[in-house]
Amino acid sequence: MPATPEPRPRRLHSPVDCSVVKCVALTFDDGPGPYTGRLLDELRAADVRATFFLLGQNVAGHRRLVRRMVREGHEVGNHSWSHPDLTTLPSGEVRAQVLRTQRAVEEAAGVAPVLFRPPYGAIDARVARTVGMPMILWSVDSLDWLHRDVRRNIVVGVRRPRSGGIVLFHDIHRPSVAAVPTILEGLKRRGFTFVTVSELFEGRRLAPGRRYAER
Ligand code: NI
Repeated sequence: MPATPEPRPRRLHSPVDCSVVKCVALTFDDGPGPYTGRLLDELRAADVRATFFLLGQNVAGHRRLVRRMVREGHEVGNHSWSHPDLTTLPSGEVRAQVLRTQRAVEEAAGVAPVLFRPPYGAIDARVARTVGMPMILWSVDSLDWLHRDVRRNIVVGVRRPRSGGIVLFHDIHRPSVAAVPTILEGLKRRGFTFVTVSELFEGRRLAPGRRYAER
């Protein structure tokens, strides 16, 4: 198999110090999916970087999108292979959920995730130890998967984030992606700078197995 050239992550923007400026990290889970390309277009148009917590099983069908995420400066994180509640699985299966996804993302985009988001936010001590990566939760749960309502997504997405926050959306739902341009405008008006999750915690060491819901 010919070697896949590695996309160079874009780092044209100046580094952001989230201890000084008002930062927010938008995160999009469960993709890539049919609306992810449109979302990437919207983020690029607004010059905004975000974090995608990918399902390993969705990577193979969307390799170009995963490569594009990395090339355009977004962060790609691991959200397991098939979205099980990891606390219900034997440790060997937990490990396989993580490692298969690490390999799929690395094979597609040339970089391996350094952050993990547990499906349903479900973690216990054993899962945390077995996964062995920082566990990224959220400070704002949009519940976009439940309501699937553009206007509601906009209200929650614009009003709820506070400085240092991590906001949970899902790019597999059309109303979530449709809400993004207005959310970006609203958060910019509120003075927010958009960062990836790793940028949000820049300067702090994230420990394997520990949970982080905001800066
Ligand atoms: Ni999920």
